[in-house]
Amino acid sequence: MDVSSASFIPRRVSGAEEARQVMAREGAAIVTGLADEAAAVAFGAQVMGDRSVRIGTQFEATKANNRAEAMVVDAQPADKHGRKRDFGTSEERMIAHNDGFAFGDYAPDHLFLWCERPAAVGGDSFLIDTARLLDLLAADPEHADLADFCRTVDIDHSEPNYPQGTFAPIARRTPSGRHQGRFHPWQAPVEGTAHEAEHWAFVRRWESAVVAARDTGPMFRVEAGEMMCVDNYRVLHGRDGHSDPSRKVCSIWGWSTDAVAIPDGPLDIVVPRIPMAS
Ligand SMILES: [Fe+2]
Repeated sequence: MDVSSASFIPRRVSGAEEARQVMAREGAAIVTGLADEAAAVAFGAQVMGDRSVRIGTQFEATKANNRAEAMVVDAQPADKHGRKRDFGTSEERMIAHNDGFAFGDYAPDHLFLWCERPAAVGGDSFLIDTARLLDLLAADPEHADLADFCRTVDIDHSEPNYPQGTFAPIARRTPSGRHQGRFHPWQAPVEGTAHEAEHWAFVRRWESAVVAARDTGPMFRVEAGEMMCVDNYRVLHGRDGHSDPSRKVCSIWGWSTDAVAIPDGPLDIVVPRIPMAS
């Protein structure tokens, strides 16, 4: 089936108020003219407005940082199923994901991707609206069962060796009323349940739908000084491969009062321990 329309090019907007409105309606927006990282963080806080609780730069996505983090992750052991974390390389097209997926309920509900310098060639961005993707699946007789699974059956969203201790469906309505639809490479059925094998088939089909949306939908270039404002609960993101050591994008994570859970301090994606519930 054709799921390409779940991928979208965000509209360019001017000002934090318009960004907030377009994000709420469409899942993401792009703003321009942000000269430095401090301006980008300040703009993100304005977009969240009165609901802002916590915001900060999570990491700088550069080829050097990617390689350094990937080396630490490479040294981590596989889990008992042989599953091994892997940050990939800049040259590969990214797996679509919500940022902070390792942290479960503590993942940021807002994501701001500020581009200091795009890759000379490649590195185009993609966004996938999971609300739209699930609606497309639900409307297709062959895939309605997949949409139903995604909306109703708890799965395990943990990364190998970093259990979250909680289970949730792939898509849900959060207590604050937001749509949350998740994808990342480590989604798995809850271990030891009677329908584990059957659930694996659904998890794999969800993966195929996300990959199809990514690979058949549009991609777009984000220029220097531009920032994508993304509803990180609803929208998956990623970029195409590139090999430019000068490319630099800052990933800024924001938690608003809408977030399911808010960490007390910075989160470490290299060693993703789940914050203690307080
Ligand atoms: Fe990301």
